[in-house]
Formats: sequence, C-alpha cells, structure tokens
Amino acid sequence: ACHIPDAGDLLDWYDRHARDLPWRVGPAARARGVAPDPYRVWLSEIMLQQTTVAAVRDYFHAFTTRWPTVEALAAAEDGDVMAAWAGLGYYARARNLLKCARVVSEDHGGRFPRDHATLLRLPGIGPYTAAAIAAIAFDDPQTVVDGNVERVMARVFDEHTPLPAAKPILTEHAARLTPEARPGDYAQAVMDLGATICTPRRPACGLCPWRTACAAWAAGTMAELPKKAPK
Ligand code: ADE
Repeated sequence: ACHIPDAGDLLDWYDRHARDLPWRVGPAARARGVAPDPYRVWLSEIMLQQTTVAAVRDYFHAFTTRWPTVEALAAAEDGDVMAAWAGLGYYARARNLLKCARVVSEDHGGRFPRDHATLLRLPGIGPYTAAAIAAIAFDDPQTVVDGNVERVMARVFDEHTPLPAAKPILTEHAARLTPEARPGDYAQAVMDLGATICTPRRPACGLCPWRTACAAWAAGTMAELPKKAPK
C-alpha cells in the first residue's frame, strides 16, 4: 500500500456510483457535454451550508420552480424569499442569497463570474463556496474542502494532527490530489465518497475505490480519524 490515491480510480467509482441529486449534472450527461447551470450550483451550495442533502432537496425544488434563473430570483420580493427559506435556518444565508442574486443580475449581466477571486467578492460566498462553484460549474481545478473532504484526507494520509490545526495540512493533501481532468466531477466524487463510504462512523472500506491507497486502512486507524482537539 505505498501508492498515492489516484483521482482516476475515484472518478471511475463516481461514474458508477454518483448520487442522483437534483442540482447535479451526473457524470454520463457531463461526458455528453451537458453543462451545469451555475445558478443551480450556487443555490445548492448556499443551501447545503449547515444543512443536510435530505433537508435541501425539497427547498431546492421549490426555489428553482418558482425562480428558475438568477434574474428571476433577483426580482423576487424579499418577504417571498424569506418565507420560502423558512425552515432551512441561518437566515443570514437567505438575505445574502438575495443580495448576491441582485449583484450578479445588475453588475454581471445575470452571469455568474467564473473565477475564484471574483466569486469571493459576492455576498455570502466564502472560499469554500467560491471553490465549489468554480470547480463544479466551470471545471476549474480548484481545491474544494468541506468536512467530508477533511475526513477523507485525514484517513487516506493517516493524519493524526487534530482539527482545526490539521486543516492546512489536509487542504494541501487535497490540493495535490486535485486533477486537471474533470475537476468538477472529482470535487463531487470526493464529497460522495465522504458521504456514502468514508462516513464518520463505520466506514464501508470494503467498497472504497481508494482502499489500497489508504494509509489509515493499512494502519487500522480509520475510526479514530479525523482527530479533534478537545474543547
Ligand atoms: N455538499 C455540499 N456540496 C455538495 C455537492 N455539490 N454534492 C453533494 N454534497 C454536497
């Protein structure tokens, strides 16, 4: 087990096991040239901050049915958007959502900017969300690190430094693994691996495409990782 995890092995797994998510253009469609809609990628990433995939599904459907484009959302009444958001929590997200829709509509001609630095200047978009949009919507090889990705990296590299101190180390590992080919699918593949195989408890290592490259699997330390500093 002395090889580095291969992005191609993970992408092969994703081609067979990608989750069917309403905001996602799956690997088969993407291979046929179907491009993701940046508005839907952005909306899903904002909703998925601090909220589970299961809880987001219905809200995502309701929002995209009622406001199918960023221009439609920009023209919505504040009260209607806040009411549609009710139940998702963290209401600052909804206020920033509207602000961002209006900036994209008014200052960017209704098209989301493609590059990380410009995305970062939009309301409600931090480094993680900017990287996720650039990678998923525009196939820019950005390093996308959320909690799932941190857990996968801590295990694959058997990194025992506790969080949050481990964060820059795990980010560097993630950056080294990010491929130039299919970075959007790759970003979603690591998230899916973390959500369905490399789970916090009882990971399904027998089904993992990175098992033979995983240092925690070799050491038997999966269940201890990632470590967290005592509060
Ligand atoms: N969590 C955050 N963003 C996600 C995405 N694009 N796919 C699946 N889970 C996610």
